[in-house]
Amino acid sequence: MLDVTPNRPDLPSEIARRRTFAIISHPDAGKTTLTEKFLLYGGAIQMAGQVRAKGEARRTRSDFMQMEKDRGISVSASAMSFDFGTFRFNLVDTPGHSDFSEDTYRTLTAVDAAVMVIDGAKGVESQTRKLFEVCRLRDLPILTFCNKMDRESRDTFDIIDEIQENLAIDVTPASWPIGKGRDFIGCYDMLNDRLELMDRADRNKVAESIKINGLDDPALAEHVPAELVEQLREELEMARELLPELNPQSVLEGHMTPIWFGSAINSFGVRELMEGIGTYGPEPQPQSALPRQIAPDEDKVTGFVFKVQANMDPKHRDRVAFLRMASGHFRRGMKLTHVRSKKPMTISAPVLFLASDRELAEEAWAGDIIGIPNHGQLRIGDTLTEGEALRVTGIPSFAPELLQSCRAGDPMKAKHLEKALMQFAEEGAAKVFKPAFGSGFIVGVVGALQFEVLGSRIELEYGLPVRFEASQFTSARWVTGPRDKVDAFTAANKAHIAHDHDGDIVYLTRLQWDIDRIERDYPDVTLQATKEMM
Ligand code: G4P
Repeated sequence: MLDVTPNRPDLPSEIARRRTFAIISHPDAGKTTLTEKFLLYGGAIQMAGQVRAKGEARRTRSDFMQMEKDRGISVSASAMSFDFGTFRFNLVDTPGHSDFSEDTYRTLTAVDAAVMVIDGAKGVESQTRKLFEVCRLRDLPILTFCNKMDRESRDTFDIIDEIQENLAIDVTPASWPIGKGRDFIGCYDMLNDRLELMDRADRNKVAESIKINGLDDPALAEHVPAELVEQLREELEMARELLPELNPQSVLEGHMTPIWFGSAINSFGVRELMEGIGTYGPEPQPQSALPRQIAPDEDKVTGFVFKVQANMDPKHRDRVAFLRMASGHFRRGMKLTHVRSKKPMTISAPVLFLASDRELAEEAWAGDIIGIPNHGQLRIGDTLTEGEALRVTGIPSFAPELLQSCRAGDPMKAKHLEKALMQFAEEGAAKVFKPAFGSGFIVGVVGALQFEVLGSRIELEYGLPVRFEASQFTSARWVTGPRDKVDAFTAANKAHIAHDHDGDIVYLTRLQWDIDRIERDYPDVTLQATKEMM
């Protein structure tokens, strides 16, 4: 089995063996299938197919997911932990649909690397590109898996060229496909000089590895048809001449991505990718925070909330805050300080997500993701420490791009609606603004589909039919500046002022021109399109 070859031998081994990552891909490229195979190899599930099956069970628990099922998109994100060799992998699932980009963005603040899955026939698609750009903002290391090689796929050099050109990143082949489509037989593992052959008869079978001593080894001809051997030799010669060699440091800095070719559905190429994540992926990284950075190997425990999921079980109205451990060795029952409120919190029932089951987490290390059930104290962006007033930075909240007003179908239920909306705002599922004038709420989202999801969740989880209607406003900006200036500004613009769920002041308008004018007329007041969650 694979051994840890730590990039940072100075780290405690429990931290050095952790790899926390997300998968980024365009819908349909094979993210779910690959996740399933990761869990299969990680021993977390016995048979592939369970992720989907369990997904169904989860959906019935949280019925709004029916929509996700109907539309075939993944709305919610979750975390999964499993061992592979001596590594502990924490895989954080990202919602695939572009309407949920803010959630995805925040999820990517909780990982140290990303696996980019592309479809061998389609190459780099729009959603992959968008997610890649988010990873680039944080210089996240990226490992690439080119999937569906069992089908007709593009030329290998073409695929590599497209990634290099489109995403402006160096690509180095970690494996090389042998044959195409129906004639695809497997890959040559360029890092270990091994031949990996795919078994088409058994999709869950781990591919056979055959040690080969270079391309001149006569053993090659025993397993690969002569014409393919010839082609492989030519292509590899060209690849070694034209493409950069693997440079682990460059991978860690996010300038180079190694690419593996495979077929997730046939369990092919997955093990090599996992070995690659272990060997070339980063261990838990330092976390930016104020007033100082947090190093993963600090003795004291710190962590931050990057996601809140409400009503995972509608009967209990529970919320789970997903905490990324930034440092230290956490033990169940620890008393931590909730920095925003300065209050102590005893974490007595933290959960670890093994496959899609929850289990009590007795301990956790920097890099792990734990779920903390709570009644609303924990919000996105919150930091937990052993007392020090640290605040993790870099978890933004974006101004919504679409605004609608929201009313309860039954006017008597306005208070209930407020409660439901506030909860979704805290979960990060939408922005909710309460106008200073008039009644009702204005709800803001990034993608139109979120209105539908919200509407159906409010109905299912709170029994409240709601109506969304066009709003007179189209843009929202957070208002900041010296107190007296902000007061003067809000007094003069009452009809445009609202408060978000944190009580922060927001300026609503339908004209960019308005925003420009205010920037001119009120030089001390700033209108911001993002706000740091804290
Ligand atoms: P996603 O999460 O990225 O959206 O993709 P998902 O894994 O659901 O895969 C999308 C489709 O591609 C599925 O087919 C899946 O079976 C198929 N697929 C995944 N990996 C491979 C592969 O290596 N080779 C081939 N040929 N197909 C692959 P589907 O018909 O949409 O669903 P299903 O009926 O198979 O579940």
